[in-house]
Amino acid sequence: MRQTIIVASRKIEYDLKNEIYYHYQTLPLEFYNNNNTGDLMNRISEDVSKVRMYLGPALMYGLNITILILMVIPFMLYINPTLTFYSLLPLPLLCISIYSVQNIINKKSEEIQKSLSDLSIYVQETFSGIRLIKSFVREINFTKVFDKKSEKYKSISLKLQFVMALFFPIVMTLIGLSIIITVYVGALEFFKGNITIGNIAEFLIYVYLLTWPVTALGWLTSIIQRASASQKRINEFLNQKTNIISKSNKILNLKGKIEFKDVSFIYPDTGIKALDNLNFKVKAGESLGIIGSTGSGKSTIANSIIRLFDINKGKILIDDEDIRDYNISYLRKQIGYVPQDVFLFSDTITNNILFGCQNEDFNSVLEAAKNTDLMRNINSFPKKFETKIGERGITLSGGQKQRISIARAIIKKPKILILDDCLSALDTKTENVILENFKKIMKETTTIIISHRISSVKLANQIIVIEDGEIIESGSHKTLLNNKKRYYKTYNRQIEKNKQELNIN
Ligand SMILES: Nc1ncnc2c1ncn2[C@@H]1O[C@H](COP(=O)(O)OP(=O)(O)O)[C@@H](O)[C@H]1O
Ligand SMILES: [Mg+2]
Repeated sequence: MRQTIIVASRKIEYDLKNEIYYHYQTLPLEFYNNNNTGDLMNRISEDVSKVRMYLGPALMYGLNITILILMVIPFMLYINPTLTFYSLLPLPLLCISIYSVQNIINKKSEEIQKSLSDLSIYVQETFSGIRLIKSFVREINFTKVFDKKSEKYKSISLKLQFVMALFFPIVMTLIGLSIIITVYVGALEFFKGNITIGNIAEFLIYVYLLTWPVTALGWLTSIIQRASASQKRINEFLNQKTNIISKSNKILNLKGKIEFKDVSFIYPDTGIKALDNLNFKVKAGESLGIIGSTGSGKSTIANSIIRLFDINKGKILIDDEDIRDYNISYLRKQIGYVPQDVFLFSDTITNNILFGCQNEDFNSVLEAAKNTDLMRNINSFPKKFETKIGERGITLSGGQKQRISIARAIIKKPKILILDDCLSALDTKTENVILENFKKIMKETTTIIISHRISSVKLANQIIVIEDGEIIESGSHKTLLNNKKRYYKTYNRQIEKNKQELNIN
């Protein structure tokens, strides 16, 4: 029985977990904005295991009990209905009380689970922010808060233990009651001459046979209830489908021409109009600089090109095809994207650079590292390219992380390269080295450089200045300077700042 039912339930659990995990990754960014990570993790672990309890133990014991009851009770009734009635009298009581105790136990267990995850989140945050805690001398305060959370966990755990302690005595009392009633009523029946002494012994065995199933019945009811609540929560996410789908799924090799036609976008959750009627064109193999202050909509442009979300109005065309017609994966594979906030995996430098590559060719890693001016840094690490980047790249400086992130994008030899403010932590000298290298290696690549610094965009064939999601100026570096408007002012301000920095150095 265990081999078939419990093993099968473990296999179903495995399938369910994999299905949910894969499904999560297909869901759009909006989904991740609306749900917190803790909730996602709970549904894939806790809820799945509750459903497994239903598919395994509940099914197994359920069948077991039904068959046992169907076989035993008719026998008892056949021998003596009166005695059957009295000896079974305490059993429904047993079932109900087990059910209610079990419900209390479940509720307390959930509280414990919550308190435990609260505790571990707190510990994780403490150690991620340990530098800040030390420098602000907050150790004692953090210890106090931890103590309070720990105390809460202890007190709920003790309450649970108390309820669990009630479990066994209740069962024993009610079974004892059944036995006393059976012996007493049995004796009365015996004196009336309705049954033999042997029948009383037989009944005692029946009562004993039935107590475990009846206890389990209460337990099962609560498992089933919990499983159904869990399954509902799982389905809620499984039924959500991504709204980023391709209409005609075209698999096309890109040349790299990009065109925005009257593009507007409003973030649905905040209602912020991030893009407002944008129009621009970039020829294949050319470069576009996008400059603007924080919050002007630069990253939104980048994210809309890789279709992390769909725009509300207008069209984005790549090689004169609407991007909604492209096969999404195939489109994204041909675009190199360096996000604004760098994320590196806890892995070696090589593996981080090779992240988006199918073939693992070390020479291309070397080339990408050279082109992003990483060699002198990497050579100074004892293990060179095999250096592990600690949790979130703790051993690297901001500029080094940015350059690894750029190397990861250019190693794909993309047709379109999008750099979202990823030169910000670099000094202007390193920035120039990288931009000069790009000119050589990115001849065939359409490059979009997003920045709030003139130095990053000034080499681009075309520059657009955006403010509140609108283009307020566009043209080449020279034209924009001659215009003597926003770009010109920003340029002078930044030149002034650079001069001051040079004086300090
Ligand atoms: N995920 C999001 N949900 C809601 N609003 C957002 C989101 N991301 C950005 N915004 C808003 O959209 C505007 C443009 O943001 P963004 O494109 O990131 O600007 P930039 O990259 O130029 O700093 C900002 O006002 C920002 O608050
Ligand atoms: Mg941005």
